Amino acid sequence: MDKLGVLVVESDFGLRQAWCRAVEAAGPFRLAGETGDVERARELAAELHPRVVLFSMDLPGAVGVAEELAEAGHRLVAVADRADSATLRQAMRAGARDFLLKPVGDAELAETLRRVTADLVEQGHPVGRVVCVFSTKGGVGKTTISVNLAVALSQQTVERVALLDLDLEFGNAATLFGLHPEPGITALVKPQAVIDQAAVRGVLQSTPHAEVDLLACPPRADLAPRVEGSDKPEERNYVAETLTVLRQMYPWVVVDTGCNFREANLTALDLADQILLISSPEVPTLHNTARSLDILVDHLDYGRDKLLLVLNRANSALGITMEDIRKGLNYPISFHVPSDGPTAVTAANEGRPFMSRRGNSPLKGALANIAQGLLKAPAGSAAQRERGRGLARAPEGA
Ligand SMILES: Nc1ncnc2c1ncn2[C@@H]1O[C@H](COP(=O)(O)OP(=O)(O)O)[C@@H](O)[C@H]1O
Ligand SMILES: [Mg+2]
Repeated sequence: MDKLGVLVVESDFGLRQAWCRAVEAAGPFRLAGETGDVERARELAAELHPRVVLFSMDLPGAVGVAEELAEAGHRLVAVADRADSATLRQAMRAGARDFLLKPVGDAELAETLRRVTADLVEQGHPVGRVVCVFSTKGGVGKTTISVNLAVALSQQTVERVALLDLDLEFGNAATLFGLHPEPGITALVKPQAVIDQAAVRGVLQSTPHAEVDLLACPPRADLAPRVEGSDKPEERNYVAETLTVLRQMYPWVVVDTGCNFREANLTALDLADQILLISSPEVPTLHNTARSLDILVDHLDYGRDKLLLVLNRANSALGITMEDIRKGLNYPISFHVPSDGPTAVTAANEGRPFMSRRGNSPLKGALANIAQGLLKAPAGSAAQRERGRGLARAPEGA
């Protein structure tokens, strides 16, 4: 995965160059951009998506722009030539995660960058997290949630996020972005070809209005067996190979799925750091979810850190109570998503995810809340990732 980008904002040319050199020399960081101009800082942040902004608070207008950038999710480190209480208060109010007093030593700068990104860096190497959105019932909102969750994660992390459409026969994540079907994963699944970053980059589609790169499902249902099943060489597990590469390239990989326990889904479920199991408050769906839970918990042995239940259209229960729902599922509900047809269906029809539209709604709030919950959730184990590489070499019946 890429190093974490840092934007340096300081008007003194000599100081700025020194900080830029220190950033480049500091382990898992790279210089995303530099400027001495506060307005330009705003533009560069929107363009370059730096994870951290090193912001000199001594510049005129700095506090307002710094606050905007912190609010947009960039991690702000304020730098100033005084450390009196008024300056510190200003930095705090702007949302700074840390404060540095000029002159800043290289080691001190590197240490501060590491401190404000400690949760993103695992043993010095960032590893992307995989979230698998799953259900064995159709029409419960898997694709709606996957697509909008990918957008929400990109908004909150200020990083590009990957979305893999593993509903191999009838996936429609591309449609929700207003995109035409492309070969997607089908272009990767050639028996002689290696799946590496260059190959994956060649088939990803960037999406309009969102910082999400989509790896689409096969454009026709009859191509699905090339990815899993009869037309695939036994010794390849293309889904494991693709996910292993995607998590090297992106901090977050969201996987939309079809309704089955076949190889592609089993691989994604296994490699995922978190699974969102989607249900909704109708008796047939609840029964279906309970039966899936039996497999996921009892047979696949996924724990409560990994398997999170989402109740979609939570407020639309008719003829059953929340108590009935809880009893029927017998598993804690981690997230509730309200029913909002006008928002969800209009967004789908217009081909633009609701998370990338202006304005607030309870539905947007619920998706932002899931993204926040995932950002706080523990990463999966290293063994899980190793298993990814193992599966990529030789599947052992998933
Ligand atoms: N929270 C919601 N409120 C209203 N409509 C929703 C909600 N979630 C999904 N939908 C709608 O339900 C239908 C099925 O959703 P979809 O995401 O395609 O389900 P799945 O991928 O599980 O088959 C779509 O028309 C979608 O717009
Ligand atoms: Mg779907």
